[in-house]
Amino acid sequence: MDPNDTIRQAFADAGQEQVFRFWGELNADQRQRLVSQAKSIDLDEVARLHRELIAGANSDGSAATGDQLIEPAPWIAVPSGDDRFRDWQQAKVRGEEAILAGRVAAFTVAGGQGTRLGFDGPKGAFPVTPVTGKPLFQVFAEKLRATERRYGHPVGWWIMTSDLNHEATVKLFAEHYHFGLDPQQVRMFRQGLMPAVDHAGKILLAAKDQIAMSPDGHGGSLRALVRSGAVEAMRERGIDLLSYFQVDNPLVRCVDPEFIGFHLLRGSEMSSKAVLKTDPAEKVGVFAQVDGVLQVVEYSDLRDDLAAARDDDGGLRFRAGNIAIHVLNLDLVARLGGSDDPAERLPFHRADKKVPCLDDSGRLVEPDQPNAVKFEMFVFDALTFARNPLVVETPREREFSPVKNATGSDSPETSKADQLRQFARWFRAAGLEMPVDQTGLPDMPVEVSPLFADSMESFQQHWRALVSPPVLQPGMVLDEQ
Ligand code: UTP
Repeated sequence: MDPNDTIRQAFADAGQEQVFRFWGELNADQRQRLVSQAKSIDLDEVARLHRELIAGANSDGSAATGDQLIEPAPWIAVPSGDDRFRDWQQAKVRGEEAILAGRVAAFTVAGGQGTRLGFDGPKGAFPVTPVTGKPLFQVFAEKLRATERRYGHPVGWWIMTSDLNHEATVKLFAEHYHFGLDPQQVRMFRQGLMPAVDHAGKILLAAKDQIAMSPDGHGGSLRALVRSGAVEAMRERGIDLLSYFQVDNPLVRCVDPEFIGFHLLRGSEMSSKAVLKTDPAEKVGVFAQVDGVLQVVEYSDLRDDLAAARDDDGGLRFRAGNIAIHVLNLDLVARLGGSDDPAERLPFHRADKKVPCLDDSGRLVEPDQPNAVKFEMFVFDALTFARNPLVVETPREREFSPVKNATGSDSPETSKADQLRQFARWFRAAGLEMPVDQTGLPDMPVEVSPLFADSMESFQQHWRALVSPPVLQPGMVLDEQ
């Protein structure tokens, strides 16, 4: 039998023959393209997801439904007294040992579509800093170079892309000489794709020779790390810890010794950073124990009364917000990303979306209502599989200001302002005169490269070491010394 007939038959047997309904009109190249896409689809998985997430319950696969017992998860708070300060010092020492031993790799998920930002190009290429407009990837690269300088040890950086942006990301790094990193230090691999289906579970076509596919979510990183050979490559280098972060947050500490240290000291397989929510409506998930199991409950899944509930101290009861910064043991990644058993893998969630697709006559329909379901995995679901999962607080102003939307909250404008506030705090702590408004925003744009300083402590140290410090003026940039 012609191999093309085999795959077409498999689709017909699974009730998905519509994928090939324009086969007679396709030339050899187009057929080849459609077949290779079709081969990447696990038809049993699609059928199961349709059964479980669409046809069956009205569920999106979220955890906090029905009458489960939901309580706030405990977290390690930022230090305010001597005792806790000692814990953080101890954690730092432990984390630094792991970094020095070469056990830690940085890992960025950058395969998303970036729809809300609407930027033409990979999100990591977005110019994010307030004066020089450095792209996000450059900010992370400079932070990693600063880490390398501090510990005298390069940190490997793995970046997950997707078919949507892989080539453009590779090109960006090549054009910028890997932003000063050794090219060997930076590895990129693509994440998996999932087909979009209609509400009857039928796989949709984006063109006569093209299935409507989209990235399988940031949780797809676990299986992509395994399938791409990244896990194997890391093992060979003696890496057993991943410092995971998203592509959209320029304030992230890419490799944070204290966080890694807590992870190790508590024998955790997965640890997550949290910022404290003050506004119940803020769109971040919260860490909670659902029937005793630590997990992230998405903001859309948290009942309004729970989201608004307050503790005796006046703070929100569910206030440890997930900012998508994690440390993962490589063994956990290998276990979850390599398993064939759906019960030992991250679950898929459904997202109802407007997906342009062909109708029976081959006409492209642009829907004005959600017409399709996409399937995505979320990396934070790995917490429910992890031994001793842990949540560690980090100050919001120090570490979280993502670029998600084109305007309004979490936009380039708010992120630039938050970077400026951070620089102003550093300048002022070093004794410099820098007027700020009541939100801490300075009255002049300035910029500090992570190669000059990547924390308040390192800023003070390097500023004081300057033989002839520059005069503070609008547009001043402190770069590599
Ligand atoms: P978001 O959920 O914010 O999505 O991703 P996005 O793609 O950046 O933007 P929208 O929702 O289309 O506007 C959070 C992080 O997870 C990565 C993104 O690149 C970002 O770093 N991600 C998301 C992936 O790597 N793959 C995915 O399939 C989804």
